[in-house]
Amino acid sequence: MTAPAPLSHAARRHLLGIQGLSPQDITALLDLAEAEVAVSRQTEKKKSVLKGRTQINLFFESSTRTQASFELAGKRLGADVMNMSVASSSVKKGETLIDTAMTLNAMQPDILVVRHHSAGAVALLAQKVACSVVNAGDGAHEHPTQALLDALTIRRHKGRIARLVVAICGDVLHSRVARSNIILLNALGAEVRVVAPSTLLPSGIEQMGVTVFRRMDEGLKGADVVMMLRLQRERMEGAFIPSVREYFRYFGLDAAKLAHAKPDALVMHPGPMNRGVEIASEIADGPMSVIEEQVEMGVAVRMAVIETLLDMAGDDR
Ligand code: NCD
Repeated sequence: MTAPAPLSHAARRHLLGIQGLSPQDITALLDLAEAEVAVSRQTEKKKSVLKGRTQINLFFESSTRTQASFELAGKRLGADVMNMSVASSSVKKGETLIDTAMTLNAMQPDILVVRHHSAGAVALLAQKVACSVVNAGDGAHEHPTQALLDALTIRRHKGRIARLVVAICGDVLHSRVARSNIILLNALGAEVRVVAPSTLLPSGIEQMGVTVFRRMDEGLKGADVVMMLRLQRERMEGAFIPSVREYFRYFGLDAAKLAHAKPDALVMHPGPMNRGVEIASEIADGPMSVIEEQVEMGVAVRMAVIETLLDMAGDDR
């Protein structure tokens, strides 16, 4: 069984982003996650490494797969897991983020998993609490465990990340998934492209080490991986696209556009998917799609992250 490998100093207690992780840190987490995949496929899925530890999931934004997989990950490691539903919490009564965090901190958790709609909120909270903090998505900033699970999925199919051509397509502007993936894929030596209409590209995105394409046929040409992003309409104020129909026509992944990628290209999507908006159903359910596998890898990667952080926090005590 692979033991958690120590993370470099910068990443010791919290996982706030892919930024700050070394290629070695990333590879160590992926290697441990690989072993966790096997655990989840056994009939007996429970380890006892985190027996007696407490994990609190604090989600200020709605989530299905991320929250569920963090919960399962903690439970499969033997921890006690509590889900704080913000809808029924004092946040609705006006309590601040920090007061909520301090209240939970007083209950002596070992790890807090936090999703928040503001970029930087999770890092702020991490400064105030005594336990380890994992960023489960902060605004349009980072979503590190998503990038790790995407990398694990790619590595299992392609055997490596280095030198692969990865096209990240769609609403890059509002996407923390895109940001974390760009940082991780570059760190491991992939060639990263972004494909989007100008209105959905952050200015200066080239400085993150990506090549920008505004047409799917050009951006997908020769790609090993096609990663679609959800059109995040809840984050849009005003009109970023003329209409959903037009968006699908030019940027939605269908068979004709996918034909420009390599014949063995992987099709990915972090979910939740808008079928017929950014991806055609026949592609989402087709033979090149690894979308369900991404969900499975999500549990394994989160087990690896939680186990590594708590292992290291234990060393520090
Ligand atoms: C993503 C998120 O919340 O950032 N989803 C996820 O975590 N599986 C992407 C999205 O919401 O589009």
